[in-house]
Amino acid sequence: MYADRILSGMRPTGSLHLGHYHGVLKNWINLQHEYECLFFVADWHALTTHYDTPGIIQEHVWEMVIDWLAAGVDPAHGTLFIQSRVPEHAELHLLLSMITPLGWLERVPTYKDQQEKLSEKDLSTYGFLGYPLLQSADILIYRANRVPVGEDQVPHIEFTRELARRFNHLYGREPGFEAKAEAAVKKLGSKKARLYEELRTRYQEQGDEAALEAARALLNEQQNLTVADRERLFGYLEGSGKMILVEPLAMLTPAARMPGLDGQKMSKSYHNTIGLRETPESIGKKIRTMPTDPARVRRTDPGEPAKCPVWQFHLVYSDDAIRDWVQSGCRSAAIGCLDCKQPVIEAVLEDQKPMLERAQRYIEDPTLVRNIIADGCEKAHKLAVETMRDVREAMGLSYS
Ligand code: TRP
Ligand code: SF4
Repeated sequence: MYADRILSGMRPTGSLHLGHYHGVLKNWINLQHEYECLFFVADWHALTTHYDTPGIIQEHVWEMVIDWLAAGVDPAHGTLFIQSRVPEHAELHLLLSMITPLGWLERVPTYKDQQEKLSEKDLSTYGFLGYPLLQSADILIYRANRVPVGEDQVPHIEFTRELARRFNHLYGREPGFEAKAEAAVKKLGSKKARLYEELRTRYQEQGDEAALEAARALLNEQQNLTVADRERLFGYLEGSGKMILVEPLAMLTPAARMPGLDGQKMSKSYHNTIGLRETPESIGKKIRTMPTDPARVRRTDPGEPAKCPVWQFHLVYSDDAIRDWVQSGCRSAAIGCLDCKQPVIEAVLEDQKPMLERAQRYIEDPTLVRNIIADGCEKAHKLAVETMRDVREAMGLSYS
């Protein structure tokens, strides 16, 4: 058994690029060998901002899952699933909404930021305001204690922690409950303590309702118990007294060193990406036409790698020998920019080769991908159902 459970989600943005690979997927791939991992496609999250283009979601989901698999996310090590296929996320989102102060949501920094950034869209919706709450439900429903995220998502994890704390405070039991309950049992005196334990075991192991009633009667007779201890002993009869929801920790993913073709952050909206499964011809062309140090107008002009986006690629893809060759060759104009780019092109393609091979199987046989996701959804669903049972009970909705 693993001690930690990791959960992470990605919005289905369509084909992924090298920024996603170096920034997120490589991290997932490392984590999957060390932890129990759940990775999911956040399709409902996509609808919070792209509610007006539902047609693209499906296609984006499958393309993205193939990219995950191509990159090396391994369904034998992690559980891969689609958020909306585990509808319990929505039930938890609804139930948590009952205890979520509006001010908490309005204060999440991404709320105003994104509204401004995507100002061409009307994001004054209920769903968009609830985005962080939906994310909290995603995390809490699996009792994941670690969530790998980028810097921008840290406030969402903080929000989730506060919400879990609020939930446990309202519906859960105190920390150290078990020990306190055990101490309260001793206060009953040895004879009654033994009887209480016996009845408790009979109820918990065999569901013996008469034993539960007898134990309650026993507690009601006790004059020397404090109110708190009596409450604890009533609670202890029926449950284990654990925290219902687990407060997750953010695992900060180091910022990716992989910039875009123009030196800015690699992002679809900047049109500076290299796709994970782009054709080798297209990748070669993109790198060959990448801008370089603007001071190198002619081949004979010396350049400065620090001012060149190609150098950033060397930092990701090249060894020391090649880097030394770039440094001295660029500054002395001994090499041309096309010479300099050639090892980068080769390294990117070399890195990509196994990905294209892995992807090929899934492209040829889409049922493989469907089956991986179906399995993952089933596994995730089982975990979600367990948490929801506790949540419903805690909120008075178990109707047993
Ligand atoms: N909000 C995340 C993003 O935009 C995606 C996401 C949704 C997520 N639910 C999550 C990430 C739960 C981690 C855990 O990147
Ligand atoms: Fe950039 Fe290399 Fe050209 Fe120097 S030689 S400017 S590092 S591409």
